[in-house]
Amino acid sequence: MQAARLGAVKIGLLTGGGDCPGLNATIRAVVRSGVARGGHEFVGFRNGWAGVLADNAIELTLQSTAGILPRGGTILGTSRTNPYADGADGTAAVQDTLQGRGIDALLAIGGEDTLGVALRLHEDGVAVVGIPKTIDNDLDGTDVTFGFQTAVQIVTDAIDRLHTTAESHHRVMVVEVMGRHAGWIAVHAGIAGGADAILVPERRFDIEAVCGHLRRRHERGRSFSIVVVAEGAMPLEGTLQTTGAGGTDAFGHARLGGIGVTLEREIEQRTGYETRATILGHVQRGGTPTAFDRVLATRFGVAAMEAVAAGRFGTMVGVRGSEIVETPLAQALSEPKLLDPKLYETAELFFG
Ligand code: F6P
Repeated sequence: MQAARLGAVKIGLLTGGGDCPGLNATIRAVVRSGVARGGHEFVGFRNGWAGVLADNAIELTLQSTAGILPRGGTILGTSRTNPYADGADGTAAVQDTLQGRGIDALLAIGGEDTLGVALRLHEDGVAVVGIPKTIDNDLDGTDVTFGFQTAVQIVTDAIDRLHTTAESHHRVMVVEVMGRHAGWIAVHAGIAGGADAILVPERRFDIEAVCGHLRRRHERGRSFSIVVVAEGAMPLEGTLQTTGAGGTDAFGHARLGGIGVTLEREIEQRTGYETRATILGHVQRGGTPTAFDRVLATRFGVAAMEAVAAGRFGTMVGVRGSEIVETPLAQALSEPKLLDPKLYETAELFFG
């Protein structure tokens, strides 16, 4: 992976998949450090891989990336476009654009899907480095992704607000949060917000056990409860009828959402406690990043630029403890990073 240090080069940058707070901070960090340290030039592709396929890009300069550090979303736009969808020769199409623009290396900022494309390109000989982002925090090769902490704070604030209305109305509040494969947001925000039950994709839940927690709590004199559920949580086989939002994306992922509504109905029917569901949805991905995520995003941007300058392609930057690390994309993407069972056990101590 180690290659000769590159002179001043032209680097393509893109943000793909779901957006998250911190993307702009990363773009700024890449451009600022790349210009300051190597005099490199930058091209930003619009809307993820879609922009590479359509050769739709803008020049990224110190001027065009000024003032974006605290801004949510991505100035480049994003999409869930898969260059290899329907058997297409994604590599040839990407290479065409890169060659046409004289781009020497590509920096892909994304989650499992965007970085999966980056890995395939690397295997086909394209010079690419990955930067992990996802509010779900389910990427291996890094202890944490930027966007996650901001999402946890948004959910915690929402739970705090739901607490006061739940208490006034003596209701059970079901809070549905994002988390396709992993319950990181649910567990962190659930612990921080004092949830009475937390349901995650890693463990199928028993609706009767959930109701049991709530009954026990109510028997102790509490007249309200908070249940946090990750969108990817599933009931024990054959216990509950659930419906997704329907449809799949270009990477074959089902569109999730709606488990909270199922739980609202079931909990109310089974316990007799008045229940309401709140689906936080994309609110969790919007707005300004926390200070922690701005710093992490900045460190990732600078580190990725260093990896490109040193020719260490096919890698993804990440953080282990307080150290910035690089992991081969193939290794980082081999498995999703699921919840630490110990963390869930800690959360469980406070159920019911
Ligand atoms: O980026 C991951 C994620 O936040 C998942 O938790 C969620 O299922 C998905 O994005 C929703 O994405 P969208 O509706 O924007 O396609």
